[in-house]
Amino acid sequence: MRATIHGITLAYNDQGQGLPLVFLHAFPLNRSMWAAQEQALTSRFRVITIDLRGHGESDAPLWHYSLDQAADDVHALLDHLSVHQAVFIGLSMGGYILFTFYRKHAERAKGLVLADTRAQADTEEGREGRFQMAQIAYKKGGPAIADIMIPKLLSPATIQTKREIVSQVRMMIEGTQVSGIAGALMAMAERPNSVPLLKQIACPTQIIVGELDQATPPSDARLMAEQIPNARLAVIPGAAHLANLEQPEKFNQLIAAFAADLSRS
Ligand code: MLT
Repeated sequence: MRATIHGITLAYNDQGQGLPLVFLHAFPLNRSMWAAQEQALTSRFRVITIDLRGHGESDAPLWHYSLDQAADDVHALLDHLSVHQAVFIGLSMGGYILFTFYRKHAERAKGLVLADTRAQADTEEGREGRFQMAQIAYKKGGPAIADIMIPKLLSPATIQTKREIVSQVRMMIEGTQVSGIAGALMAMAERPNSVPLLKQIACPTQIIVGELDQATPPSDARLMAEQIPNARLAVIPGAAHLANLEQPEKFNQLIAAFAADLSRS
């Protein structure tokens, strides 16, 4: 499905009925990373997955990107879909966007799932790494970005034994336009520190992390769990950064249980 939001086309899926679950993907992927979640959850919930600006089938204009703008896109798309309140699930960059979204529109969140993400801003070294990555994207394109990213996103066991997951991730990365890759890198590099926000998050929050996640390790997840007043933490064994792709059953169970609790409240 497509909608024109803030002058660009955003692609999304909207399936099922009941409590809306809104899924925000990681960098530099797209909404197809949530296929297993759509399949498992649409019989019980309204599942909305969005290609963020710069990714997937959404437009990737060559211009300045920010997480604020990504959060505004999500907000406007939900208005377009007449969704007032939802459970938001953000993985990694999707989680960074949720912090921004919550700062602006806390009343829209019935619950948050912060998966394989972190509240801290980039370090100086991290920002420099983003700059270098944007140069590689510009000079060598998506395949070079896939070569760098895949070992950071998936566990060694997944890379060795689950070729279909590796191919799926490679296809998503290679399908992302360079303007979107560079734009998202800039947006993430400029994001503020969200640690001070954690204590103000009032809605129920499920934190999920793969035990082998090196990009946003379990120590980052524990920090969020300690600071957010109404948070629970789940560590998924055998998963690295893309826990929803590597261990979909466990990930889906956590989302289903969390959303079922919220449906009753
Ligand atoms: C992601 O998975 O969205 C990225 O690894 C996040 C990041 O680069 O900080």
